[in-house]
Amino acid sequence: MSNILITGAAGFIGFHLANFHQQKGHKVFIFDNYFKNKSKDKEFKNLIKKKNVFFYKLDLNKKIKLEDNKLKKFDTIYHLSAINGTSLFYKIPYQVFTSNIKMTLNLLDWLKDKKVKNLIYSSSSEVYSQSYALNLIKVPTDENALISFKTPIDDRMSYGLSKFFGEFLISSFIKNSKINGCIVRFHNIYGPRMGNKHVIPELINRIEKSKKNLKIYGGKQTRAFCYIDDAINFLYLLSKKKKFQFEIYHIGNSKAEIKILLLVKKILNLLNKKLKIKDYGEPSASVARRCPNINRIIRETKYKPKINLNTGLLKTIEWYLNGK
Ligand SMILES: NC(=O)c1ccc[n+]([C@@H]2O[C@H](COP(=O)([O-])OP(=O)(O)OC[C@H]3O[C@@H](n4cnc5c(N)ncnc54)[C@H](O)[C@@H]3O)[C@@H](O)[C@H]2O)c1
Repeated sequence: MSNILITGAAGFIGFHLANFHQQKGHKVFIFDNYFKNKSKDKEFKNLIKKKNVFFYKLDLNKKIKLEDNKLKKFDTIYHLSAINGTSLFYKIPYQVFTSNIKMTLNLLDWLKDKKVKNLIYSSSSEVYSQSYALNLIKVPTDENALISFKTPIDDRMSYGLSKFFGEFLISSFIKNSKINGCIVRFHNIYGPRMGNKHVIPELINRIEKSKKNLKIYGGKQTRAFCYIDDAINFLYLLSKKKKFQFEIYHIGNSKAEIKILLLVKKILNLLNKKLKIKDYGEPSASVARRCPNINRIIRETKYKPKINLNTGLLKTIEWYLNGK
């Protein structure tokens, strides 16, 4: 039985990761302050009732003062808490940037006198957003691609830049310790309980409500979507590596790259709906194509994504229509 700490496990990826470890019989410690989902979330309430799950309602923006004998030694820490969600990058850039950095700083400060074997930090494909926008990197994109930040007058950078700072904090913290550390850059993970603001749930909800027409933007753009179970398997297998040098890994599914228009048609099909699609063109500041190269993580975990887009969409739709 291992001791696992997951920050941000009341959210999307962390919740599934916590469930996965709980079911394997590990002790799961969770830090979250319900910034995203309010405490009424039934699935999360059920998870934290389990006897091997320990929930600490903590605001990681503040110094962690927790003293608890259970919290001295960790086999794996997954640091996932963050303010996330594209609309927030524009609405509250200062809070997004400063909170995401403070959460990492406070966690690392608290870890100074703890024993930690593995530390996995969740970064994002958003670190490449300006490089994509300026056509500086090739697609599919590998982990060594150039990361550039052109101007500070761009609210969208609040998030990507906070993640890049976080990467640096983690890598420099690990440098003088015995911790195995790595960074994962997630690329469009989707699945049940991901919230309502991302492209897939937003489309499901709108298609369900629409009677005749469906307005979309950027139908010709492509994105590569990775189902949550595949992302969880990648994370788990990374934590099982005996010794990893400090590395950066993409987590995504390059095989599931699809044009947004085709994605819309797939969802219409699965929902058995016929609507007239009206494409209003590319939204400003968005990128024509995004897709990760995931060869490194496949090579090192010997795992390939198993859930194709149809199956993943079906599971997601079922949850959004019936399971909430
Ligand atoms: N979902 C994706 O496709 C994706 C893509 C790229 C990167 N990421 C990164 O992966 C991680 C997990 O993503 P997610 O989609 O599950 O995000 P999420 O928003 O669903 O979960 C983040 C969690 O962090 C918690 N949190 C926020 N502020 C906090 C604070 N001050 N103290 C304690 N907890 C706090 C929230 O309450 C939430 O439960 C995040 O760091 C995100 O930036 C996700």
